[in-house]
Amino acid sequence: MYQVIFSEEFPGHGRERGFRASPADVLLAIAKNHNVQIPFDCEDGECGSCVVEVEELGEKSAFHMTDKELDKLMALGVITQAEADELTEKDVMCKYRLACQCKIWNDIKVKPYKK
Ligand code: FES
Repeated sequence: MYQVIFSEEFPGHGRERGFRASPADVLLAIAKNHNVQIPFDCEDGECGSCVVEVEELGEKSAFHMTDKELDKLMALGVITQAEADELTEKDVMCKYRLACQCKIWNDIKVKPYKK
């Protein structure tokens, strides 16, 4: 089990909130189950409305984002091609994720994405 902490910056609660999650639980589903307001639309990695910032709290883990998610983050301008190449080369996780595509792999803290 992992700990998923939602920052106090999400609207509606005014405080940090933490929940336990199983590996492979999807971040957006956890947020919805606990009334944490992450914007979303398609829930399929296509619209990009669910981008969040994620900080790994446990030991850093290897890169395991799908090409689809990485391509969408680049298309949205959240990360550049050079940043994507560096993540892949160094085998590290991107700090921006699509909540609907993000399966829990570590203890994490989640913040709203600020452009
Ligand atoms: Fe559309 Fe996540 S809800 S990309």
